[in-house]
Amino acid sequence: MQKLFLLVISSLLIFSCKNNPAVPKSRHHLKSDTAMVVSAHPLASKVGIDILKKGGNAVDAMVATNFALAVVYPRAGNLGGGGFMIIRTPEGAAQALDYREMAPAKAHKDMYLDDKGQVIEGLSRNGGLAVGVPGTVAGLYAVWQKYGKKDWPQLLAPAIELAKNGFAVTEAEAHRLNKYKKDFVKYNSDNQTFIKDRWLKGDILKQPELANTLQIIARQGPKGFYEGAVAKAMVDKVNKSGGIMNLSDLKSYTPKFRKPIVVPYKNYKVISMPPPSSGGVALGQLLQIVEAYPIKQWGFHSFKTSHLMVEAEKRVYADRAKYLGDADYYPVPVDSLLNPEYLKMRMADFSFEKATPVSNIFAGKFELHKESFETTHISIVDKDRMAVSCTTTLNSNYGSKVIVDGYGFFLNNEMDDFSAKPGVPNQFGLIGAEANAIAPRKRMLSSMTPTIVEKNGNLFMVLGTPGGSTIITSVFQTILNVVDFDMNMYEAVQAKRFHNQFLPDYIMYEKQCFSRSVMDSLKQAGHHFKQVKSLGIVKAILIKNNTLEGAGDERNKDDDVKGY
Ligand code: DON
Repeated sequence: MQKLFLLVISSLLIFSCKNNPAVPKSRHHLKSDTAMVVSAHPLASKVGIDILKKGGNAVDAMVATNFALAVVYPRAGNLGGGGFMIIRTPEGAAQALDYREMAPAKAHKDMYLDDKGQVIEGLSRNGGLAVGVPGTVAGLYAVWQKYGKKDWPQLLAPAIELAKNGFAVTEAEAHRLNKYKKDFVKYNSDNQTFIKDRWLKGDILKQPELANTLQIIARQGPKGFYEGAVAKAMVDKVNKSGGIMNLSDLKSYTPKFRKPIVVPYKNYKVISMPPPSSGGVALGQLLQIVEAYPIKQWGFHSFKTSHLMVEAEKRVYADRAKYLGDADYYPVPVDSLLNPEYLKMRMADFSFEKATPVSNIFAGKFELHKESFETTHISIVDKDRMAVSCTTTLNSNYGSKVIVDGYGFFLNNEMDDFSAKPGVPNQFGLIGAEANAIAPRKRMLSSMTPTIVEKNGNLFMVLGTPGGSTIITSVFQTILNVVDFDMNMYEAVQAKRFHNQFLPDYIMYEKQCFSRSVMDSLKQAGHHFKQVKSLGIVKAILIKNNTLEGAGDERNKDDDVKGY
């Protein structure tokens, strides 16, 4: 009897899930008809969806979600960092917004080197000298001015409430706050906000100082952040912590609207981020390279497909190291890098039998720095099918760990994304050269790849992820999973991933990514391997038959899709 009852209940549940697309399968997966937000935290997704329900558009929701993440997801959500956005209007016009941090005016090429010309370990990652001039507040204001419909203060109101009244920390956040306690103490002797004997899931985190800062921004816009008391406090704290940022660096910070990188892939159009991110160019190169091969026929994670993808990635990351940087400072050869003839030539020495050996050009022995997924991504689609894809970061978890005294927000350590010295890797093992050398007011090269895909001229997919150097390949694989391997959005996001970035000379892979026989064949071809815990935390929305399918990544428990 009991069994029969359970059977009836479960059939009813399955039936209602199938027939009512608004019933969530899990917090990480949802179908809905009207609008959708996918972010790294349920409270932030709720803020975004509430704005949409109140008649805001995707940009309004994106701005509000970003401010909410600065409160509830302080490892990456931020006021003191920067990011990139791709915006696609309901009419199909696409635009990129660059609000990446800038090097302070006093920055110079050799600022992280000692007398002997060696990189001083940690200097570009910790403390005041790691801080780039933040872009987030100016960027969010600029995109709202251009596209937003709601009043600016309305977009900050939910974040202010969350900061003032506090919110219950998730298990993952409690774990992180405990893990970084030593750093918080080291750089912020006066600030107790994030310090506790031991954080537990459900503990309330209140941030009154941050609430006040958000209130100032709500009233005064970016002026309240880049000038006046907040700016002064930022400069004081950065300098007290060994940095070089000054008031004029802050006052002169400008976000930039840029032409996105647009690359065809089969009957899709991929719209992504131009320099100073390497994301759009590298993603475009990868897609165009694999388009020439029948990977659908070869199959998902088969030897041939995986070998081809890895070989393409090696070449693309080698190009990244040499040619990519802030195009306002260095002539990045975007068109040449995306030229199909060039890409064909780049693959001329590709062999189906053997891994191409890594040349000595960028040789160097190193291990990746042990940080994980500190950036964050938000994907939003509104009722008119305006879409925004946004990736934002402080770089490492809680950035430089430096909190601005009296104003309660973390400052980034984005300066580490510059190449401190040609060939010397940063925390993601990425190397660079002249194109990404440090210069005053230059933007450091990024891998962030907020992306929107069109199919036959219609909005098809909105996606992005954190993951440092692995961002590009995570976005690449997610697109292939849907387009070539017929997965739905949820399956495409959860599928195991791998990554090769030329140097270090190995394939990073998630457990159970390859079958034993594929792994053996790849080894036989000369590939090296390193198993890692996870790669990327993709947040994506797929639009099919006018239904939205949102997927958060099970790799982050707190990822959350909201829709209606
Ligand atoms: O801009 C970049 O490429 C990096 N600062 C992103 C950092 C990141 O994704 C950290 N998470 N792993």
